[in-house]
Amino acid sequence: MRAMEDKDIKQRIVYLRAVLEENSRKYYVENAPAISDFEFDTLMHELEALEAQYPQYASEDSPTRKVGSDLEQSGGSPQAMEPGIRREFAQYPHAHPMLSLANTYSIGEVEDFAARAAKTLDHGFTYSCELKFDGTAICLTYRDGKLFRALTRGDGVIGDDVTDNVRQISNIPQTLKGSGWPEEFEIRGEILMPYSSFDRLNAQRLRDEDQPFANPRNAASGSLKLLDPGEVGRRGLWCTLYHIAGDNAGFATHEEALDAASSWGLPVSDKRRICHNISEIKQYIDYWDTERRNLPYATDGIVIKINEISAREALGFTAKFPRWAVAYKFKAEQALTEVLSIDYQVGRTGAVTPVANLSPVPLSGTVVKRATLNNADQMALLDIRIGDMVYVEKGGEIIPKITAVEKSRRPAGAVPPVFPTVCPDCGTPLVREEDEAKWFCPNSDGCPQQIKGRLVHFMGRKAMNIIAGDATADQLFSKGLVKSPADLYSLDKYRLMSLEGWKDRSAERFLASLAESKSVPFPRVLFALGIRYVGETTAKEVAVHFRDIDSIASATVETLLEVPDVGEVIARSIHEFFRDPRHAGEVQRLRAAGLRMSMEEPTGPSSEALKDLSIVISGTFSISRDEMKALIEANGGKNSSGVSKKTSFLLAGEKPGPEKVRKAQELGVKIISEADFMKMLPQTDTEEDGQFPGSLFDTMI
Ligand code: IVH
Repeated sequence: MRAMEDKDIKQRIVYLRAVLEENSRKYYVENAPAISDFEFDTLMHELEALEAQYPQYASEDSPTRKVGSDLEQSGGSPQAMEPGIRREFAQYPHAHPMLSLANTYSIGEVEDFAARAAKTLDHGFTYSCELKFDGTAICLTYRDGKLFRALTRGDGVIGDDVTDNVRQISNIPQTLKGSGWPEEFEIRGEILMPYSSFDRLNAQRLRDEDQPFANPRNAASGSLKLLDPGEVGRRGLWCTLYHIAGDNAGFATHEEALDAASSWGLPVSDKRRICHNISEIKQYIDYWDTERRNLPYATDGIVIKINEISAREALGFTAKFPRWAVAYKFKAEQALTEVLSIDYQVGRTGAVTPVANLSPVPLSGTVVKRATLNNADQMALLDIRIGDMVYVEKGGEIIPKITAVEKSRRPAGAVPPVFPTVCPDCGTPLVREEDEAKWFCPNSDGCPQQIKGRLVHFMGRKAMNIIAGDATADQLFSKGLVKSPADLYSLDKYRLMSLEGWKDRSAERFLASLAESKSVPFPRVLFALGIRYVGETTAKEVAVHFRDIDSIASATVETLLEVPDVGEVIARSIHEFFRDPRHAGEVQRLRAAGLRMSMEEPTGPSSEALKDLSIVISGTFSISRDEMKALIEANGGKNSSGVSKKTSFLLAGEKPGPEKVRKAQELGVKIISEADFMKMLPQTDTEEDGQFPGSLFDTMI
């Protein structure tokens, strides 16, 4: 019995880590959070508690010990970003690790924080209370009074160099004024997009038919990684600084350090207050909980920091947080509104999702009219009825979600909605497999919604990027011209122009876009096939691992499991997909149409570009470590395992070993990013084609 319990706990820990890693990537790298901050923090707190209670399952690698990273990973999904986003920046280590903050939603825990500090410290101390700005973290280095470098947080150890972009932000001084600044120092803060800039940008994006940003935070962090500094300048970003790293420029208190920074012309918030006890802290929190609605930028809480530097030194840090600060976060805004009706939508995989139609209600700057109910279990859990008043929140501030029903206002006689037993689109009886939360329509070949859904997915921007909207998919299908993606490639101008509303030019543009899609790289073709559970990231990993469609189609579940991040469910899904003769036939037709079905082997470069260089690699890259080592050797370089004085440079990928980075810094050995390394190699023909492994993913933006 005991062993069983242990197994469950271990499973829960593994599950929580996976969910947190995935959502951290969505938040920090893709700028597209899928769950709310509150849900994320709740899961993180559950994992922290489990790891504390069961230290035998603790792991150095756990998200409880790492700060969320904004660096692109080889398995990341660059397609999720807007075009023009730079995927590879030069990377540099931070002089001091860039940590995160412990956070809480409860005043009780703020009291605990204060009590713990008082217990450890033998002197009196004060608190600096500040707004928690909801933007993206930045670290500025000033050298001799001039802005020298700006790095993103990265993984906390190494950040992306965004100096050129940061120079375009109008309230960041290039040169300091006044006097007394240290020769070199790092000052940290947040890049924000004020609501006015955000609204202007989104209005423009809608006019250009670009996807609008979900919230100012995403807009700020997306803008910071743009290719064109001029465009960054036009986006109206803004900066606020709140922490001098290292020794606080020698000041005795944080307050004095920030006051001095302000006198040097640096943008420091004037909303900070020194508090002497918990009741003053509570007053500050209460005041800003409402007053923040009148600020021109987004905030998501209050940061409470111990003000005296000597006290901070006594308290120190955990692996992830300072022990001298805590963030009190405000819960997401909620709205109360009425459920008018419930629709049941059929997706491309046949999954049926209940969606509530709501009486329109304003929430965090937009009007909410619909909210997802996820599945039948969720509906039952909420015990929702038509006519109910419900609380709506924005999950990750994107997809509105119903979080609770106000039962006290339930209209008399309201009956529970009945989840359909047959497909609302084609009438086929729905099925629900064991372990599945959703009901499915099994009529994948005949259900119009599923067929159209697959076409829309195939043509999507992140897949084959064919210029067409849902309406085109609808029209092509309902007129009997297209039943599966491969049919698209047999369309001709004559047939297109027979459709209502199509003219010479629109038909030509559509055909040109189809032709262009033939050069979409293989990982995106694999994603476009719409295999269940195979998102962009998984598709890329599977494609890079197996290199061509035939190897994937003939792979066993066991060999599929060898791909990083592919678990049992995904492996089975891929395996089953290719066992279905209809899918095999579709793939053959797409191949015959000329779509890319392989990674195309890079022609092994051979040069002397790295002759006599001794190179240490650390971290992960866009190609496997073995491929990277082979690349070094093929260009005349030597791989060595440890950093020494003889090392020519440390080639640092994603998450390089902190020890190697430290050693390199200590010995003055250069640290080079993958992007810069690739620039050292001769440009080959394949590289220009975008098929060279190092630049492959650039072509997928
Ligand atoms: S202090 C070593 N102060 O919130 C601690 N952080 O959720 C340095 N943030 O990583 C951080 N407003 O990006 C600090 N007034 C403030 C802040 C603030 C926003 C961000 C920061 C931090 C994150 C933690």
